[in-house]
Amino acid sequence: MQTVRQRLTLDGTPESLIQSIEAVLFASKDIAFRLRQGALGGVLGCAEQENVQGETQKNLDVLSNDLLKNALAACPSVAGIASEEEDLPVAANASGEYLVLFDPLDGSSNIDVNVSVGTIFSILPANGGDPSKEATYLQAGKEQLSAGYVLYGPSTLLIMSTGKGVHVFTLAPETGEFILTRENIQIPETTQEFAINMSNQRFWAEPMQNYVADLLKGEEGPMGKRYNMRWVASMVAEVHRILTRGGIFMYPWDKREPNKAGKLRLMYEGNPMSMLIEQAGGISSDSKAPMMDIQPELIHQRVPVILGSKAEVETAIKYHQ
Ligand code: AHG
Ligand code: MN
Ligand code: MN
Repeated sequence: MQTVRQRLTLDGTPESLIQSIEAVLFASKDIAFRLRQGALGGVLGCAEQENVQGETQKNLDVLSNDLLKNALAACPSVAGIASEEEDLPVAANASGEYLVLFDPLDGSSNIDVNVSVGTIFSILPANGGDPSKEATYLQAGKEQLSAGYVLYGPSTLLIMSTGKGVHVFTLAPETGEFILTRENIQIPETTQEFAINMSNQRFWAEPMQNYVADLLKGEEGPMGKRYNMRWVASMVAEVHRILTRGGIFMYPWDKREPNKAGKLRLMYEGNPMSMLIEQAGGISSDSKAPMMDIQPELIHQRVPVILGSKAEVETAIKYHQ
């Protein structure tokens, strides 16, 4: 039986980084509790407000954001915080060494239908920069010191990396501790399972149209094999499936809003998920460059995403060259 702290200590993780991760976990246990209460906790449904990106917030988006912010602000090793649900980053502690970026509740359209959602986090070095300034946070994904997500599903799981592999911890309901249940997970290199929101097909660019058309041809097409499709509409759940049994996940650019580079956010979704995927032997790309090489220009920047099993992602990227 290994707790997160025990595992991270064995890996040689600095105490201050362990404390920052524990602050995320403290809040996530509270979020898990409220999700379990469901309608009895009075937290389902929509809040009467929109976030900075013009998306309607769910009550639980707002609550999860507040829980994370409070826990992180109380942690002396956290210098600053940036959230998908907030306009601007906020300074936390002058003594802090880390910037913690998060998507408090990913897949929130699934809350009211009782389908898995999650909290995604990414930890960057503060490097002595001003944590109230957006520029301090604009670091490429390869600078991440840790990334992970808590998946609120039939069981509550923590999947995380500090750059030494990807480990899975399961929340023990009787003790409230995340316990190591799988270590150093590796994604199968090939797959016959893809995930994309097919309803947007007509809006995709031509390379994506061609690639998915070839997947659908099955054993009669160039792939020479039959594919299965899944779409949960919670990125955490899709990435978790891919980390468990392989697959490819895509949220490509589409022409519905041509000025937006995609739906998903580089700093809160693209980068942390890419760190996990690559640490598990997969690949992640924006279709042109490795996701974690992208130099961010805006904290809420959006990005096309293609990630998963190595050989399949390489094939998808070839269609874009
Ligand atoms: P969020 O709930 O944080 O806004 O993110 C939802 C994301 C992601 O989890 C999922 O892959 C995607 O949106 C689903 O989008 P569609 O509803 O367009 O399928
Ligand atoms: Mn999200
Ligand atoms: Mn969200």
